[in-house]
Amino acid sequence: MSKPRIFSGAQPTGNPHLGNYLGAFRNWVEQQEAYENYFCVVDLHAMTVPHDPQELRSNTRRLAALYIASGIDPERSTIFVQSQVSAHAEMTWLFNCITPINWLTDMIQYKEKAERQGENVGTGLLDYPVLMAADILLYQTDVVPVGEDQKQHLELTRDIANRFNHLFGSQEQPVFKLPEPLIRAEGKRVMSLTDGTKKMSKSDPSELSRINLLDSPEEITKKIKRCKTDPIRGLEFDNLERPECNNLLGLYQIFSGKTKQAVATECADMGWGQFKPLLTETLIEGLKPIRERYAEVVDTPGYLDTVLQQGSERAAEAANATLHQAKAAMGLLMP
Ligand code: TYM
Repeated sequence: MSKPRIFSGAQPTGNPHLGNYLGAFRNWVEQQEAYENYFCVVDLHAMTVPHDPQELRSNTRRLAALYIASGIDPERSTIFVQSQVSAHAEMTWLFNCITPINWLTDMIQYKEKAERQGENVGTGLLDYPVLMAADILLYQTDVVPVGEDQKQHLELTRDIANRFNHLFGSQEQPVFKLPEPLIRAEGKRVMSLTDGTKKMSKSDPSELSRINLLDSPEEITKKIKRCKTDPIRGLEFDNLERPECNNLLGLYQIFSGKTKQAVATECADMGWGQFKPLLTETLIEGLKPIRERYAEVVDTPGYLDTVLQQGSERAAEAANATLHQAKAAMGLLMP
């Protein structure tokens, strides 16, 4: 019996941060043994907002190395770069032709990004979720582990699969499998360090708003020292009036490996002056193995290139099989 499949990805834009790690990478690592895994660096998605070619290239390598540094094992998982498997772009075109435009103009992330960008919003930004559907559906994916912000994109992916199956498949032989999102409660939405009501994001102009996975101990110390808190003594989870408190306790809980109850009890009488050094120490310790492994990966000549080369070959094999079926189902003349 073949294992069920997992597909997920992240964009090589900016510096990967704690949100990416807790909402995504960490959960990919945990499932590796039970699934057949595909983890993609989605460079075509990173081009949907204005970008610098040199930065895109280096961000792509850095993100792939960070996947490995976070614990993804290239022996057990296929790690690859999206643009190196041409089926993704091809499949997107086929899906474009069956996706109503209003499904795309309704997407929250599109509206937010388009508003931020102002004029000259590219067609690629509108089409972003269709490319994402192609990513996932090409692999006949069972499960997609993501942070909460991707929920709407996953719903759209299922809508596109359903529409395609309805138009060109049959009840007995659907062309695409319907994937399920996997959004883990802990870490599904890590908030900004400078505003506990906004999610931690690569696009926030303030570096102080996020902790990057490759931040040095000094940077982590500085960011936690300066992060937003409140004037109340005694720390608690789930008080809507104290979003920063909830977020920081949540980070401490995950990285300390303690239960929520244990953390609530431990911190109930603490002030920020006592909690901040504790959190800082826990984060530095928790991220240390990732930084060390990252240095090993990038210092081993040729290693990353080999992983990505093998990854794109394996991914292309799986993706092309589905693309072939989809083209034939849509009536394209097959050679
Ligand atoms: P991206 O690069 O924005 O984010 C990568 C992953 O990190 C999660 N994430 C967060 N989780 C918790 N708290 C946060 N503050 C936080 N910020 C980001 C995201 O939910 C995501 O899981 N569209 C995707 C990339 C993509 C993709 C795919 C994902 C393209 N094709 C196919 C899954 C399957 C994105 O924007 O990732």
